[in-house]
Amino acid sequence: MDPGLAARARRLFAERFGAPEPAGVAFAPGRVNLIGEHTDYNDGFVLPMGIDRGVVVAFRRRPDRRIRAHAALLGETRELELDGLEPRRVAGWAAYVAGVAWTLAGAGHRLPGLDVAIDADLPLGAGLASSAALELAVARGFSGAADLAWDPLVMARLCHRAENDFVGMPCGLMDQLAAAISRGDGATLLDCRSLETQPVPLPRDAALIIMDTGVRRTLTASPYADRLGACSAAVAALRTRAPQVRALRDANAGMLEALRDRLDPVVYRRARHVIEENGRPPAMAAALRAGDLRAAGRLMNQSHASLRDLYQVSSPELDALTDRARSHPACFGARMTGAGFGGCAIALVRRGEVESFEESVRGAARAVFVTGPEGGARLV
Ligand code: GLA
Repeated sequence: MDPGLAARARRLFAERFGAPEPAGVAFAPGRVNLIGEHTDYNDGFVLPMGIDRGVVVAFRRRPDRRIRAHAALLGETRELELDGLEPRRVAGWAAYVAGVAWTLAGAGHRLPGLDVAIDADLPLGAGLASSAALELAVARGFSGAADLAWDPLVMARLCHRAENDFVGMPCGLMDQLAAAISRGDGATLLDCRSLETQPVPLPRDAALIIMDTGVRRTLTASPYADRLGACSAAVAALRTRAPQVRALRDANAGMLEALRDRLDPVVYRRARHVIEENGRPPAMAAALRAGDLRAAGRLMNQSHASLRDLYQVSSPELDALTDRARSHPACFGARMTGAGFGGCAIALVRRGEVESFEESVRGAARAVFVTGPEGGARLV
């Protein structure tokens, strides 16, 4: 985390809300997902890593029951009544702030009114989980202000509920978990059914580069929900022959092929992506642990091709950028990261050649930056 970010939030707070000082500053990181895309809501595996950019929230209790929030990147202040919050009735970024207050209160926590000044050094809506970072930073702020115990797993689930039920975006659990439980020493292999986690350090000679296409999308839009629907349709069809299948995580390629003639071809393609992709996070974790960057890179390339051709959530810009990345000799592999439909791609690159790599992709991207692992939401 850039140490200047917390100071920026404090300054912003003083400018907007005046004295006294904020009671604290909370930070939550964005994330890249190394592999395992669109598997989380299928009860599968993912391999996210918190990154050294994120969202900060300077906060102070209020004597009344209002939330007053200012977002620096949007230059906007919003005021909300803590007791009058209703799902899907708050528009824009303030819905994430309100949604967190709503779920924390729903879980039985007595919350105070809060002034919050929000800043970020993470591009918003770029596939780096800025919404989850905002949710977890706000949750950490409320917990700090109300003296609540901080249990990262519980808080991730509450923030996930805020996004699903209050904001109305039916996302999986990966981003909130990554913002809450990430580690400063590498990625985390996460089983989205059992919530078991395993640390996966990055080999020393590897660097991770984020390449931003500059194309922005709002995830509440229908393509994400549409993919979710296709996965449910595939599960319903698979269950007619194998009732033990509760999610695509429980199916294998043979089961899907046996049903192929009876499946809508689009549903077949979506399910095939998920079933194959679900094997990749454990495989990539093993490759990284063994220091086999070529194998890790091959898996990333396969994942991208599957997201492009079978799941169809890539974009021409993401395809062009990952092609360009792969053409550099120091690149082991490249893929889109996050939901897709624009946003960012990542590349795994030989550390000693990062500068020449960055030079070669810079012209094709809005921004290119090297990233490193970062721990989860905390007071800073
Ligand atoms: C978004 C969602 C996650 C996950 C990814 C795709 O980031 O918030 O839950 O589904 O897309 O892997």
